[in-house]
Amino acid sequence: MDKSTLKKVDKRDHFNSRIGFILAAAGSAVGLGNIWKFPYQVGQNGGGAFVFVYIIFIIFIGLSVAITEMVIGRSGKSNVIGCYGKYNSKFKIVGWFGMIASLLLYAYYAVVGGWTIFYLVKAVTGQFGAASVGSFETMFDSFCQSPIQLIIYQIIFLVITAFIISKGISGGIEKYCKVLMPGLFIMLIIMAIRSITLPGALKGVEWYLKPDFSKIKGSVLVSAMGQAFFTLSLGVGTMVTYSSYLKSDENIGTTSISVTIFDTLVALVAGFVILPAVFAFNLEPSEGPGLVFETLPHVFSQMPFGTLFAIIFFALLIIAAVTSSISMLEISTTFVVEKTKMNRKKATWLLTLLIFLLGIPVVMGFGPWRHVQLAGKTFFNIYDYFVSNITMPLVGLFGTILVGHIMKKDIVMNELTNNGTINVKLKMVWYTLVRWVIPIILFLISLQSLGILKI
Ligand code: PFF
Repeated sequence: MDKSTLKKVDKRDHFNSRIGFILAAAGSAVGLGNIWKFPYQVGQNGGGAFVFVYIIFIIFIGLSVAITEMVIGRSGKSNVIGCYGKYNSKFKIVGWFGMIASLLLYAYYAVVGGWTIFYLVKAVTGQFGAASVGSFETMFDSFCQSPIQLIIYQIIFLVITAFIISKGISGGIEKYCKVLMPGLFIMLIIMAIRSITLPGALKGVEWYLKPDFSKIKGSVLVSAMGQAFFTLSLGVGTMVTYSSYLKSDENIGTTSISVTIFDTLVALVAGFVILPAVFAFNLEPSEGPGLVFETLPHVFSQMPFGTLFAIIFFALLIIAAVTSSISMLEISTTFVVEKTKMNRKKATWLLTLLIFLLGIPVVMGFGPWRHVQLAGKTFFNIYDYFVSNITMPLVGLFGTILVGHIMKKDIVMNELTNNGTINVKLKMVWYTLVRWVIPIILFLISLQSLGILKI
């Protein structure tokens, strides 16, 4: 490395503490993906069978790809495009692809983030009491029909995130994750207990846990893979960008394992909150993106101190969503700042404006443009399919090719073992997965998601 690069690397911000990085990575991973998306994906993809495939994908693919992305990020020490292009400049395109996906991802994520703020307002104004049962479905529907309301809440969400990120990385991110994520987890456990003990809920528990293997089709595999990437924040450059700030004595393997375990637990518990309640209240599990927002008020209405619970829960959910969106915006902010030398604040706000505009079709697609569809998909579905089911697995695929076949083995192993100073037990298992098994599976899944292969 020549002197000027060294200087640049030295100047890069660092996570101050080990726990700071884990929490920021966990803060990115744990978000709406766990609590909003996972339950409705389970609902749309046949219950236990989806959960089964999802867990297998998380263990054998998600975790390994997380480690892969951390290796790429820490050894690249640059923005996402610099990191992917460091060992072969053709791979810059992978970084570009990820970054563009991160913008689209944030565009619809912020719309749903806005929903959580709307629901906090509803909770604060006491609208989840037992008396309001029956109006919960229409509450969500009529909210979605009003683009003005959606836009107002989307803007509030975007502004909160931009405000935090414009303050800079360690100060901005670490502070907010430390206490709140465990708090959210505890809330979910309490809510799950309430949900499981509702009359009629056990049918939902069974449906959630008992895999009906006949339901596993190509589309279920594609959705489960998309969900595994989405929930662990993989395939868009987030973990690459975050790890580029990671000090060289951090243990990539154990960090990835902690984040993956915590993230998966949160999603599984969220499933126990939502799906039993869906059955108890005779709702439709395949409802789609509105599922959680239509189900949760019912749960709160059946809890002692339901309103208080609802307020705390939605406040924590907003924070979880914001820590995830911070990480999405960080990708392009880091890139713009490093490329154009624009000041961080300005880059953040300009990108936020762009993302707001990209979100407008999504907003309209929930209301007046509901009928504008491509292959049966609304704007929301199109954005989400493109990001979660096409881009994320593809970026993951090329990431594994980069680490498994382009980077020299000893560079990869040095990165993983901190130059041989730590003993990483299953490193050869990981390396074999990354070199051969995962690229083949991701290639097949990508063919399926692109409609080239049909199983
Ligand atoms: N993992 C986040 C969630 O589950 O809500 C979503 C996400 C964040 C995906 C950051 C990708 C990303 F880069």
